[in-house]
Amino acid sequence: MNFEPTETQALIQRAARDFAARVVLPIAAEIDARATIPPAVVRALGELGLMAVNIAPELGGSGAGVVAYALAVQEIARACASIAVTMSVTNMVGEAIARFGTSAQASHYCPALARGDEGLGCFALSEPDAGSDPGAMVTTARRDGAEWVLDGAKQWISGGSAARVLIVWARTGPPETGTKGIACFLVDGNAAGLRVGRPEDKMGLRGSSTVPLEFASCRVPATAMLGSENDGFKIAMMALDGGRIGIGAQAVGIARAALEESVRYAKDRRTFGAPIAEHQAIQWMLADMQTRIDAAHLLSMRAAAMKEAGRPFSREAAIAKLFASEAAIAVCNSAVQIHGGYGYTRDFAAERHLRDARVTTIYEGTSEIQRLVIARSALA
Ligand code: CAA
Repeated sequence: MNFEPTETQALIQRAARDFAARVVLPIAAEIDARATIPPAVVRALGELGLMAVNIAPELGGSGAGVVAYALAVQEIARACASIAVTMSVTNMVGEAIARFGTSAQASHYCPALARGDEGLGCFALSEPDAGSDPGAMVTTARRDGAEWVLDGAKQWISGGSAARVLIVWARTGPPETGTKGIACFLVDGNAAGLRVGRPEDKMGLRGSSTVPLEFASCRVPATAMLGSENDGFKIAMMALDGGRIGIGAQAVGIARAALEESVRYAKDRRTFGAPIAEHQAIQWMLADMQTRIDAAHLLSMRAAAMKEAGRPFSREAAIAKLFASEAAIAVCNSAVQIHGGYGYTRDFAAERHLRDARVTTIYEGTSEIQRLVIARSALA
């Protein structure tokens, strides 16, 4: 067992860390306040190879693997969680196209997503009445000659307002076909019949837009189907397994930022004639924060290494995401506590970290869904 990153992994980690410190951190509070990410930052992520870390160089990616990807997400999230999720979803979409797409689909979309200069990738699975249970989706795809016609509504779509390409799931079979009668399609962000709704006014991750989408007779060519007609649900599940590694890494990054700022504050702030870092009450909080972060990091690295080795990793990804997201909330909550009244204001980043961390137990599968995946595996 080797806990040291390889040369390539360390290179990607350093590139992400330097970029985060130099470019992202100085504007992170502004990204949150203005609820927007400057397009130049997304382009720069593309130039660094961070929008397609685990995609082959022939398709414009870095070809650096899953562990490198998780390390990079963690570093970016440490500076700005909104940029980290933007990066994570685009990586997930690019990977799904590279893995399940035809060579024409992959060579059309992957290099553009990797460059980061023509919009993002987004993952249009959830619906107003089908989030945890995507098998209950009602968006339909009807075959009409050489085209498919999409009708329905999607909800909670990260990055949907700036999308270059959306993977859209729709029912091609009747409702009783459940998870089997579902296909997925590659839809261009400017397709006729696709309407992007008003961004949600969210508690956190405010820089990353989350939108509802409406499909009204949105026509796509038959060649837009990703994978085969009844494989859509499985493609979603496999893509989400990988996505959960990204969200675990994002949670670790947010938690690291919260701990580092708490340590700084605790050394500076004095009560009862001493820096609060000298009080055992604070030391115990810091110790628990560090322990949770290390455990979350190791779980997320294990899931990433297993995926990279080509081994089954659904359960490990669920464990990593469950633990890391819940740890991040606990760590960020302690960070606010350590900062006292100041932690409850926008003058310190602690409150932003708590708001940003909160969604990690919800998206890409709630904690309850991760527990379901883990329990099913334990009972199998
Ligand atoms: N890999 C491959 N295949 C899988 C799979 C996996 N991880 N999980 C399930 N499948 C297969 C099953 O083997 C089964 O195949 P067969 O029909 O051949 O037997 C089929 O898929 C159906 O599986 P289930 O019967 O287990 O399906 P289910 O309806 O019970 O659902 C679930 C399982 C795990 C609860 C799933 O519904 C789930 O993950 N729900 C959460 C959805 C989610 O994470 N949504 C997030 C939205 S996207 C997002 O947040 C992105 C963003 O914008 C940031």
